[in-house]
Amino acid sequence: MMTTPPTLRVRINRRPVCIMNYQHHFHAGNHADVLKHLVLLQLIELMQQKPTGFLLLETHAGAGLYDLQASEARRSDEATGGIGRLLQATQAANTVPDLIRFYLEQIGRFGSILHLSHYPGSPLLAVCVLRPQDRYIGVELVPKVARELSRNLAERPIQAQCIHDRRVIARDGEGLAALKADLPPLERRGLILIDPPYEQAQERDDITAALQAGLQRFETGVYALWYPIKQRPYLDRWLNRIAKSTPRPVLTIENSIFPDESGNRLTGSGLLIINPPWQLDTLMQPVLEFVNDALKQDTAAPSAIRWLNPAH
Ligand SMILES: C[S@@+](CC[C@H](N)C(=O)[O-])C[C@H]1O[C@@H](n2cnc3c(N)ncnc32)[C@H](O)[C@@H]1O
Repeated sequence: MMTTPPTLRVRINRRPVCIMNYQHHFHAGNHADVLKHLVLLQLIELMQQKPTGFLLLETHAGAGLYDLQASEARRSDEATGGIGRLLQATQAANTVPDLIRFYLEQIGRFGSILHLSHYPGSPLLAVCVLRPQDRYIGVELVPKVARELSRNLAERPIQAQCIHDRRVIARDGEGLAALKADLPPLERRGLILIDPPYEQAQERDDITAALQAGLQRFETGVYALWYPIKQRPYLDRWLNRIAKSTPRPVLTIENSIFPDESGNRLTGSGLLIINPPWQLDTLMQPVLEFVNDALKQDTAAPSAIRWLNPAH
């Protein structure tokens, strides 16, 4: 069922008021979240193969935790087609990739997964697995959502040997500006997750420019950009433009629940990763195959891992 979320008016720094319809409470736990959060957990695990700490910078952090029984989530019912389908598939399968088991365990720390009670967003999923030497900054444009994020981060389930509160920062502001303000990180190691709502006409150009600015400051950073799959020729031109703008390795990981189509419907999603850690592609392949089988709503819905710029 399609629902239209209420409109929010927000001011980006001193720029004119921008009208935003996007609210992640309607989409939490959907097929796009499943792909994005699995890739995020895999990236963090690979970053943690080195003992030195790193900065995880999130430019579009959201609220951090979503009540799937709240009216917004129930009205859209998107979690049923995402985390709900994945859960069913794991219950029916003989073998489930370790990363998927780990992801489901992490979600289970926030409430009954069987009853789809709560779904953690990227900040909570990530911060719960960061180490004492790592650091987290989450930026969110909407002040009310940023306050929700701070509260959810402060109340997160804590386990031994995990990141200390003073190394976890949530702030309100314009996310793409953080690629200038917060890079390069003191640690000289960083993972940057960019997860915009794609609502504004100029957003893709802003992202391309922000990535270039980020890479100029911090060319060895690992940048993970989420994108919606719709209007394939236009999307591919944009992804190739980003890849051409840097000599660094660029990989895409995509999962669709419907085949590509010419209309404006969201048929799937992907992540473009600049400087992917070694073996990300091979580790993600069986995970992606499992996710695609579990979530697709049309047998012809594709999934793919592609190098746009080869690994060095
Ligand atoms: C897709 S949601 C983020 C979801 C989150 N990354 C997760 O996976 O749980 C996008 C968020 O970006 C926020 N947002 C929109 N425009 C922004 C901007 N210019 N800067 C920072 N945040 C923004 C929205 O309010 C929304 O909470």
